Amino acid sequence: MIVLDKETQTYIKNINQNIDISINNHSEKFLCLENEFLVLHNMNQKLSIDFSSPDILERINPKTKKCNVIQAVEGRSKGILKILDTTAGLGRDAFTLASRGHSVIAIEKDTYIFLLLYNALERIKKNTHLEKIANRIELLNTDSCDFILKTNTSFDCVYLDPMFPERKKSAKVKKEMQIFHKIAFNENENNSELLEKVLIKKIAKKIIVKRPIKADFLANKQPTSQLKGKANRFDIYSI
Ligand SMILES: C[S@@+](CC[C@H](N)C(=O)[O-])C[C@H]1O[C@@H](n2cnc3c(N)ncnc32)[C@H](O)[C@@H]1O
Repeated sequence: MIVLDKETQTYIKNINQNIDISINNHSEKFLCLENEFLVLHNMNQKLSIDFSSPDILERINPKTKKCNVIQAVEGRSKGILKILDTTAGLGRDAFTLASRGHSVIAIEKDTYIFLLLYNALERIKKNTHLEKIANRIELLNTDSCDFILKTNTSFDCVYLDPMFPERKKSAKVKKEMQIFHKIAFNENENNSELLEKVLIKKIAKKIIVKRPIKADFLANKQPTSQLKGKANRFDIYSI
């Protein structure tokens, strides 16, 4: 893990002292604390997470149409759910689901992304309107396959959102998403293993996998039902 300065190093050590950090101000890729925002720089591109941004506020506004992820996870259920988000990423889905009152364990394997997400959740905990949402999310930095092997907890829903293959017209992908695509962990075998492990261990009644609309089923496992959008779909496995 490379950081720009001592302040950022101390900040990260306070989150987890086992993270290996070196200070380097000539590196192309580094983390830097800027006005409380932890920012990842990579070859002149920047990435940080802000749960008070207009697009997130639009997603969690109860007056706007429910996002597909909410429809897929909740189905007809009206209760509060215990959700495992195995691919936390930028935390958009975890935050959206937590805004509905659900409790979410969100797991992110990549330590850079984990730290950006940790920092965004800490900042939003100081926002009196949104702190309750952040408090419903428990964030872990590990591989979800390992977590699933070890856990004895059962969940109402397990959610998998593996990274889609990069679009050919990459100019259309926003700059912040280009850097995310570059660093996020994405291995086909690991994605399949994740679904297989959840199905074998039966840790949830419902498993949801987000896929590009035309993609094959993950691990060749036929879902029980599907919820289709324009560019992607949710494959739903009921156990
Ligand atoms: C497409 S993104 C998820 C986006 C997320 N749903 C959101 O709303 O922002 C996939 C993320 O899962 C992480 N990931 C992939 N495989 C993982 C695994 N086995 N365990 C934990 N995280 C994983 C990647 O590093 C990446 O950040």
